[in-house]
Amino acid sequence: MATIRLGDTAPDFTAETSQGTLNFYDYLGDGWGILFSHPADFTPVCTTELGTAAKFKSEFDKRNVKMMALSVDGADSHNEWIKDINETQETLVNFPIIADEDRKVSDLYDMIHPNADDTLTVRSVFIVGPDKKVKLILTYPASTGRNFYELLRVIDSLQLTAHHKVATPANWKNGEKVVVSPSIPTHEAKEIFTKGVEEIKPYLRMTPDPTA
Ligand code: BEZ
Repeated sequence: MATIRLGDTAPDFTAETSQGTLNFYDYLGDGWGILFSHPADFTPVCTTELGTAAKFKSEFDKRNVKMMALSVDGADSHNEWIKDINETQETLVNFPIIADEDRKVSDLYDMIHPNADDTLTVRSVFIVGPDKKVKLILTYPASTGRNFYELLRVIDSLQLTAHHKVATPANWKNGEKVVVSPSIPTHEAKEIFTKGVEEIKPYLRMTPDPTA
């Protein structure tokens, strides 16, 4: 198991899931992907997270992002648990959950942190670009459910900054002003960003979202 870092190629795998055997790269196709792990089936925080993920699926779809979850229990257990998630969270889980009983994918992605728990996966998130490179890694403890608004927010930033020479400031949300990339001199930025460039400091230049 090698440490995965930003910019690395996301390891491919074929795994049993709640929707049958799937190959990760085939499943992603040429779009974006989000792979996120859960400590175990039939646990309360995970139940709310998967219900929330299902409710957010249309937002991920809009951004061409395919979701794949993971938990270290088997596919039969996942499918029983999904019934509970659908019932209690009033939704339909509509994406696959990897049945990682042999810890193959968890090990590949370093999702088990033995000093936190030596058998269960922590709450890892990997966002993978269409080039299959890892664009974002988050690691949360079992006791803290993730914020799916933040995941959408960071995907908006990743997709914007992949195509425009900008970066997104603290607490940025889709449509708000962005920062001009430090590598672009202000005179060039003024030609590129026709909506205007505000130079607050030579290194801090703001411009309206070029896609808004
Ligand atoms: C949960 O998903 O609720 C959970 C799982 C493992 C430890 C603590 C909470």
